[in-house]
Amino acid sequence: MKIVMLGAPGAGKGTIASRLSVKYGIPHISTGDIFRANIKNGTELGKKAKFYMDQGLLVPDELTCDLVMDRISQDDCKKGFILDGFPRTIPQAEALTDALDEKDEQMDYALNVILSDDKIVKRMSGRRTCPKCGAVYHIVTLPPKKEGICDKCGSALVQRADDSEETVKKRLEVYHEQTEPLIEYYHRAGIIVEVSGDAGADQEVDRLSEVLEDEE
Ligand code: AP5
Ligand code: MG
Repeated sequence: MKIVMLGAPGAGKGTIASRLSVKYGIPHISTGDIFRANIKNGTELGKKAKFYMDQGLLVPDELTCDLVMDRISQDDCKKGFILDGFPRTIPQAEALTDALDEKDEQMDYALNVILSDDKIVKRMSGRRTCPKCGAVYHIVTLPPKKEGICDKCGSALVQRADDSEETVKKRLEVYHEQTEPLIEYYHRAGIIVEVSGDAGADQEVDRLSEVLEDEE
């Protein structure tokens, strides 16, 4: 099963994607996580990506598309994958469609996680992430069992550099301008499924797996 996660920054794409990844045993591929790992490791890609990410802007398509195409051609993606944060522009979506077309394949679902901008801005200040395994928490709505410590791997949780209110507002602006048109793109492909970013994440995943399984 091949899934694309759509939705604004902070809507809950990563939260839903990581749960679906466990449920279906397919990799969760987050371009944001890949860039953050490169920044942490001081790679050339990381240096370039950081310049854009710190400003809340998109990393250029030419740095992003090949990276994803290479990742989805790896062996662990044969049964499917979940793309979280890619595509983010129409050219990225077209590149993905073309790459899959060549193999006579297509995406199965585009899950659009919906949450209002007001709620997103309020929520982001409470987000904490695990720099090691990528798990995501919220200090009020989805806290770890032990404060400041990742449930899954025991690492110390951190706040993301781009989660300041000012940068979140810029990311939302960029989302509405460059990424929101993808909803129409995938509507035309007939594969959009709406997901609430507000209902309990586990509850949404249960509901979703019925929808996804029904259509399999
Ligand atoms: P990326 O890492 O993809 O960030 P984003 O799209 O801005 O989305 P977030 O990860 O911030 O939010 P999310 O929707 O995953 O929400 P989450 O589940 O964490 O990208 C970062 C940057 O990298 C971009 O700005 C760009 O510069 C660059 N980039 C990445 N991909 C790119 C591409 N393809 N092209 C160009 N540039 C690219 O949830 C948010 C919070 O809410 C958490 O605290 C969570 O615990 C809480 N929460 C989630 N669901 C619920 C719920 N149901 N109830 C209560 N709380 C919840
Ligand atoms: Mg995310």
